Amino acid sequence: MPPRPYVLLSCATSADGYLDDASPERLILSGPADLDRVDEVRAGCDAIMVGAQTVRKDNPRLLVRDPRRSARRAARGLPPHPARVTLTATGDLDPGARFFAPGALRLVYCATRALNLARARLRDSAVVIDAGDPVSLGFILKDLAERAMARVLVEGGARVLGDFLAADLADQLDLAVAPFLLGDPAPKTAPRLSLPHPGTVSPMTLAETRRVGDVALLRYLLGPGGPDHRFLRWAVELSRLCPPSDSAFSVGAVVVGEDGDVLTTGFSREQEDHDHAEEVALRKLGPDPRLRHATLYSSLVPCGARSSRPVTCVGHIVAAGIPRVVFAWREPRLFTDGEGAKQLQAAGVAVTEFPDLAERARAVNAHLVGTGA
Ligand SMILES: NC(=O)c1ccc[n+]([C@@H]2O[C@H](COP(=O)([O-])OP(=O)(O)OC[C@H]3O[C@@H](n4cnc5c(N)ncnc54)[C@H](OP(=O)(O)O)[C@@H]3O)[C@@H](O)[C@H]2O)c1
Repeated sequence: MPPRPYVLLSCATSADGYLDDASPERLILSGPADLDRVDEVRAGCDAIMVGAQTVRKDNPRLLVRDPRRSARRAARGLPPHPARVTLTATGDLDPGARFFAPGALRLVYCATRALNLARARLRDSAVVIDAGDPVSLGFILKDLAERAMARVLVEGGARVLGDFLAADLADQLDLAVAPFLLGDPAPKTAPRLSLPHPGTVSPMTLAETRRVGDVALLRYLLGPGGPDHRFLRWAVELSRLCPPSDSAFSVGAVVVGEDGDVLTTGFSREQEDHDHAEEVALRKLGPDPRLRHATLYSSLVPCGARSSRPVTCVGHIVAAGIPRVVFAWREPRLFTDGEGAKQLQAAGVAVTEFPDLAERARAVNAHLVGTGA
């Protein structure tokens, strides 16, 4: 059974939390720099999901716009654009919508009671899947996992974002806050980012704050297990960005300071052919006194032996003075002896392993180590 996909929620709001105003026209809250950032995120995903109301109201294309990004996907053996996914209880979808244009796989998760209507309307414009009654997000994620979709980007609207948050089925929320207020002229019709019912989602982990043009990007990590588990899951996700290789693992690394600030990230071959994730992350940051109190999260245990370069990742970590390492997957004896954890401990570094995330980290390397244990 493949693990459930990583679910990344992404939206732009006004500074007072609205996703749209009450007018019939689509309101673009992001500027060009943020739209380009989202294009990069799209290019790293297997599927983009929006609610049926967003398909009806915004008529989005849901494409990767930059052809260089589509070409990079193709080089990794992926389709040029992620699959488009929507969900509906009524089946009220127009096959003329851009969502149904050719160029990407189209999946419609539909309530059982509206299946016949949806299939009659959409014919061969999309694969229409019975998602139960009521429609179950858990079923949708399971079905997407079985279709080899490991990473799903949910772009709205309000209902869908709120449902994922309330069901505790999201791993990340990228919230772009635009620099204006919309006010509250028609609170019943202007959608905002919120939960479907009063309640609280367990505290999110703030992983990044960044200026993107005029927009403030807030990146939160969610899901079970607290900050260690969340940062490690994020490191595993970074490993999906690695340029492909038949002779080296794909690994992601995140270095987090004592106060929870992400100091640097890296993934294998990010800058040069033989780069290891930990090595490139530390190179990007350079010498920094905060490393002496930092934690390094890596999808694979840092290497204690390597043939490509003289200094191992254990050597880089010890030299930087990093006191703590958290990893998911023990290195199989494929390229070198996987003694990294022992060497780190011998050097006085505290090492924590999360074996429950090993399968997720290993799956990214299935072409090297096969499927199964
Ligand atoms: N600022 C942004 O980043 C952003 C992004 C996207 C959208 N938006 C805005 O958000 C607004 C749309 O949001 P919205 O909340 O009205 O609609 P939505 O979340 O896009 O879609 C809601 C619809 O999706 C289907 N659906 C969602 N969850 C379901 C579930 N659990 N079970 C069954 N069906 C489900 C239903 O479709 P049926 O009605 O067909 O049954 C429901 O009416 C638009 O104004 C759009 O412009 C903003």
